[in-house]
Amino acid sequence: MKLLVTGGAGFIGANFVRLTLDTRPDVTVTVLDLLTYAGNTASVPDDPRVTLVKGDIADPELVDSLVREHDAVVHFAAESHNDNSLDDPWPFVHTNLVGTFQLLEAARRHQTRFHHVSTDEVYGDLDLDDPAKFTPETPYNPSSPYSSTKAGSDLMVRAWVRSFGLQATISNCSNNYGPLQHVEKFIPRQITNLLDGVRPKLYGAGLNVRDWIHVDDHNRAVWTILERGRIGETYLIGADGEVDNRTVIETILELMGHEPTDYEHVADRPGHDLRYAIDATKLREELGWEPVYGDFRAGLAATIAWYRANESWWRPQKLETELRYQRLGR
Ligand SMILES: NC(=O)c1ccc[n+]([C@@H]2O[C@H](COP(=O)([O-])OP(=O)(O)OC[C@H]3O[C@@H](n4cnc5c(N)ncnc54)[C@H](O)[C@@H]3O)[C@@H](O)[C@H]2O)c1
Repeated sequence: MKLLVTGGAGFIGANFVRLTLDTRPDVTVTVLDLLTYAGNTASVPDDPRVTLVKGDIADPELVDSLVREHDAVVHFAAESHNDNSLDDPWPFVHTNLVGTFQLLEAARRHQTRFHHVSTDEVYGDLDLDDPAKFTPETPYNPSSPYSSTKAGSDLMVRAWVRSFGLQATISNCSNNYGPLQHVEKFIPRQITNLLDGVRPKLYGAGLNVRDWIHVDDHNRAVWTILERGRIGETYLIGADGEVDNRTVIETILELMGHEPTDYEHVADRPGHDLRYAIDATKLREELGWEPVYGDFRAGLAATIAWYRANESWWRPQKLETELRYQRLGR
């Protein structure tokens, strides 16, 4: 099988390529990635079964020629950071909407199997004391330029299935953690700050709840859907990992040998979603997927160990990322 993986130099896509090499000996992978600040060639395995193409998913000729040569597309490429989307929404419209459009059109022309990777943030947020979780029937209610452009891309995929018979599936996953995540994101930022002797930073009171899942559990679910998912269906991916941000920071501090209260408060992000929570019953019952990393604390300890051992991977991004946060006052 020849697989085209967009965004395969980013966090989840690069972990997906690694998992694929480890578990699917008959698959070769082409990574299509623009190598924005979020893409890292060091994350793409140096392996004869992997080819890296630097390019934009919004480039119609390039996308057409690549999609034509592959059996399936797994679409991870996106502008993915909420904070950046508040600062400048345009790259989010370009990549998440226009880029997805070009991929869908190429997949339609060449009748190529397509899996679209999306986020639970398309559903907006839940109240902290709401017993409900997101299901595939939850109405879309995005709050930021990031989540609204992801929502738009999901709706295009659904429309291309219905109008053109595109062989596509969609997954909406909760917050991922694990190796190879850019240091701008919440968990790696705290870990690498601590490794640099800097106190971690907590947005507001830290009561916001995220439903954490290890990136390998996410990617195993993507493979499950690619192989056994029903065409046109949306599957929610989550591992019942609801934890508030304050607890995440306190756990990181404790696992790294510090006092759990040794952090700073910074101004809350505008429009900060309160709580996300995924009901993954459909994925579990229909396709038989189960997460391997049940224990968030153990997954976090392994992630800390990875950042400790791989400073050469994250160090080049660190200074610029912190300067950007300083400019934004966060
Ligand atoms: N990180 C999470 O917790 C999470 C949770 C659920 C869903 N998702 C979704 O998973 C996907 C991957 O997220 P991530 O965290 O790995 O993101 P990331 O920002 O780490 O990686 C995105 C990759 O896409 C590439 N890219 C950006 N614009 C491009 C373009 N125009 N053409 C080609 N490549 C381009 C970047 O260079 C980068 O390598 C996204 O679609 C995101 O919405 C992420």
